[in-house]
Amino acid sequence: MKVLEKDKRTSINRDEPLCIIVIGASGDLAIRKIFPALFSLFCQDLLPKDFHIVGFARTTMSDEAFRERVNTKLTCRYVPGERCDQLMAAFLERFSYLSGNYDDSESFKQLYQKLDSLDASRQENRLFYMSIPPFLFLDVAHALADAGLVHRKDSEGWSRVVIEKPFGSDRNSSDELTESMGKVFTEEQTYRIDHYLGKEVIQNLMVLRFANLIFDPIWNRAHIESVHISWMEDLGLEGRAGYFEDYGIIRDVMQNHLLQMVALVAMEQPLSLHSQHVRDEKVKALRAIPPLKLSDMVVGQYSAGAHKGRQHFGYLEEDGVNSESITPTYACGVLHVRNRRWDGVPFMVQAGKALGDNKTEIRIQFRSVPGNIFGKAGKALGNNELVIRVQPDAGMSLRITNKAPGLGIALLESDLDLRYDAAFKVVIPDAYESLLLDVVEGDKSLFIRSDELEAAWDIFTPALHQLETEQIKPEAYPFGSSGPQVAKALASRYNIRCQSTLKPEEEAE
Ligand code: BG6
Repeated sequence: MKVLEKDKRTSINRDEPLCIIVIGASGDLAIRKIFPALFSLFCQDLLPKDFHIVGFARTTMSDEAFRERVNTKLTCRYVPGERCDQLMAAFLERFSYLSGNYDDSESFKQLYQKLDSLDASRQENRLFYMSIPPFLFLDVAHALADAGLVHRKDSEGWSRVVIEKPFGSDRNSSDELTESMGKVFTEEQTYRIDHYLGKEVIQNLMVLRFANLIFDPIWNRAHIESVHISWMEDLGLEGRAGYFEDYGIIRDVMQNHLLQMVALVAMEQPLSLHSQHVRDEKVKALRAIPPLKLSDMVVGQYSAGAHKGRQHFGYLEEDGVNSESITPTYACGVLHVRNRRWDGVPFMVQAGKALGDNKTEIRIQFRSVPGNIFGKAGKALGNNELVIRVQPDAGMSLRITNKAPGLGIALLESDLDLRYDAAFKVVIPDAYESLLLDVVEGDKSLFIRSDELEAAWDIFTPALHQLETEQIKPEAYPFGSSGPQVAKALASRYNIRCQSTLKPEEEAE
């Protein structure tokens, strides 16, 4: 298998030393995503020659135990065979660990000493990854600064911080977080990650739209009838009740992952790929979307149901969930992009946990063909549809109407299909690989700028507040189904053809 030749595009200076400090290093995100992604970059020589990784978390552990834990999730995707074992050993040698408390300045002084002992004489770049719950961001940021860990002068090397959503829980709390974090790390130093932006197919959206001549002339209200972005997971809470109860599906995936897809589909062509230009256009698109109205949305919550031969609890029976909870696990809303290109085209966004399918896709549904010259056969004249499949089975397909082979004229809908696994014989990078490389390179195009975050919250904050103040009860839907039935009524109100990928018998299971 050919490895993607990313080194050809990397702009890092491999001679500049780098220290990656992962706060919350013993947690799931760090172990499952961050360290394996760094290993993949290491295997491709995409990290500086001289780098250290320092883990910091509350759990008491030796360096050796930490390395063992990291090792459990490293994979040999890029370099199979014996050489991979050697690379793993060489990679793990760069790791060290310190346990401490997030609100304890003494712990951060020890962290300072640790870094000093690793790197006493040289200047080095520093990447801080906050793999911790957001309520700890501020304490940790201040503690890092107070301990003198954040470089202030260019001559000391750069300091960058990566933070993970949720960035607040509405417009106000998000603004407060941005302002307070801004006292330690400038906007330039802050990398707000939305890992969906690192996914291969999502990165391809701009290429598809702006590197092909054929799409732009039809990418507008004259040709497109609706856009349907759908995110489905067939998993329940997976032990995350504490977090999910506070946030719900709208804050968890809709305000960020789904809205980013909306922005990339709706935006105008940026002046260049420079991060400022890309994000300027995304912000303009988001600013053209008025706040979502409750009358244009449906919220749901899963009840007990059967899926893949197993009986599952309903949300209210899950451990850690309040039995009266009104937290939505499903939401579907219709957004309107009020600008010259999109006015009148509904953008339906749908996200749900505990559904019968596990799939993320964007469906661009085109208007119907005017004038039927095919007589009775023309009854089968369908609408073209471009489906961009984010996951699983990354790819895209374009539905066209075709002559059914044979005597006489009969029409048939068929798909022009591009499947990544069949078309590109390469290792597809994980989203975190791509995004971490960007942080090291200092490329911010795939990270959320503060004004983009404000625009995103403005779209959802009024509806979120209304759902909470009016205590609106979500519609129940069985685990393993396609979501609440009322969502179908919303779709048909806007003439959106929803494709249930479930067979009727699965729905009823
Ligand atoms: C996270 C959400 O951002 O994305 C999770 O918090 C969700 O609830 C996850 O499961 C999905 O990510 P992916 O990459 O597996 O689609």
